[in-house]
Amino acid sequence: MLRLLLGGLFIAFLLFAFVPTGQKLTSDQSVAKLLEVYGDIPLPHKPNMTVTGVSVERGKDIVTQGMSQTGGKKSRQQSKHFTCISCHNIKREDPDLTNPTPETRLKYVSEHEMPFLQGSPLYGIVNRRSFYNGDYVKKYGDLVNPTRHNLREAIQLCATECSQGRKLKEFELESILAYLWTIDLKLADLALTEDEMAQLQHAFNTGEKRGEAIKILRSKYIDYSPATFVDPPADRKTGDGIKGDISNGALVYKYSCQYCHFDNRNSFLLLDNTRLTFQHLLHKAGTYDPHSIYQVIRYGTPPKGGKEAYMPQYTKEKMSDQQMADLRAYVESEAHK
Ligand code: HEC
Ligand code: HEC
Repeated sequence: MLRLLLGGLFIAFLLFAFVPTGQKLTSDQSVAKLLEVYGDIPLPHKPNMTVTGVSVERGKDIVTQGMSQTGGKKSRQQSKHFTCISCHNIKREDPDLTNPTPETRLKYVSEHEMPFLQGSPLYGIVNRRSFYNGDYVKKYGDLVNPTRHNLREAIQLCATECSQGRKLKEFELESILAYLWTIDLKLADLALTEDEMAQLQHAFNTGEKRGEAIKILRSKYIDYSPATFVDPPADRKTGDGIKGDISNGALVYKYSCQYCHFDNRNSFLLLDNTRLTFQHLLHKAGTYDPHSIYQVIRYGTPPKGGKEAYMPQYTKEKMSDQQMADLRAYVESEAHK
C-alpha cells in the first residue's frame, strides 16, 4: 500500500517535474540523463561530489595511470602490476551495442588501433545495471553478490581481485565514478533511425509518449555484459578440428596478446614476431603446459596472492572458439615461414 502510494507520488512528481522545452537533442546528449528526463528510474551510482578531493581528472588519472596527485603529492599506486586500462578499454569497442560479439569487436578495435581485452569496456559502464554476470560467480563465489547491482562494489572487487591491488579510498572511488560518468553512452552511440529520433525529440519537447521514448532508448543497448566460461578444445592437438583464418589470427595476436606481452610488458613473457617465438607457441599449443595458448586463453593464469601479475581468462563473449583457431592458424603459419 505504502509502495503504491509512493509510486503514485513519484509519478505525480515526474509529471509535475517535466518541463517542456524547444531544445533540439544533440548527438552528444547523455542517454542516461535523457532517460531521466523521460521519467525512467535514475541509475543508482552517481558520484558523490561532496567528498573532499573528488574530481573527474583524478578519476581519469587513477583509471589510466593507477594513481592521482594531491597538491603535488602522488598517491600510492593502486596496483603494483596493472592499471584499469590493462584490461578495460575506455572508448567504445562494439559497433552494435544491442549485440556485442567478439567477431564484430575484433574488427572494430583493430580498425581503431585499440586492444582486444578480457574486461568489458568502461565506456558506457555507468549505463549498465548488473555486473560480474553469468559465470563470474564460479570464479569469485560470494564476492560477486554485493557487486551484482552496485557499481561501487564492482569497482572495489576489481581493484582488489582483478587488479590485485589495494582497496580504493572513498575520494578515489567517487573520482572514478565522476570520470566514468564522462564516458557514458551518448545518443550518437545508439543506432537510432530518423523516425525514432523524431519520436525522442517529440517526447522531449512535449512530454508526450515518454514511456515509448524510454522503450526506444532501452532497446538500443544491453545493460549488462554476459559472461560464459568455456573450456579449451577437448583435443588440443587438432583444436577440435576448427579451421582457422590466418589473417584474423594475426589481429588476435597483435591486439590481444601483444598488447600485454609486447607493448606494455605486463608480463615476463615476450611475444614478439620472431619465428622462434611462434615455434615455441606452436610447440606448446597442443599440450597441457601453462604456455599452451588454449590453456591461458580459457583459464588464464593464477593470481598467486597478488605477488605477480596474472592473466585473466577470456570468456566466450570476449574471444570465440573460432578466434582461438584463427590464432592457432596464424601461429602455425608464422612458425613455418
Ligand atoms: C588484470 C585485469 C583487470 C584490471 C587491471 C582491472 N580489471 Fe576490471 N575486470 C576485469 C575482468 C576480467 C572483469 C570481468 C567482467 C567483465 O569486465 O566483463 C572485470 C570487471 C570489472 C567491472 C564489472 C564489469 C561488468 O560489466 O561486469 C568493473 C566495473 C571493473 N572491472 C572496473 C575496473 C576498474 C575501475 C579497474 C581499475 C581500478 C579495473 N577494473 C581493473 C579485469 C581487470
Ligand atoms: C591483459 C593483459 C594480457 C593479455 C591481453 C594477454 N596476456 Fe598472457 N599473460 C599476462 C600476464 C600478466 C601473465 C602472467 C605471467 C607473466 O608475468 O609472465 C600472462 C601469462 C601468459 C602465459 C604464461 C606465461 C607463464 O610464464 O606461465 C602465456 C603463454 C600467455 N600469457 C600467452 C598469451 C597469449 C597467447 C595471449 C593472446 C591470446 C595473451 N597471453 C594475452 C597478460 C596478458
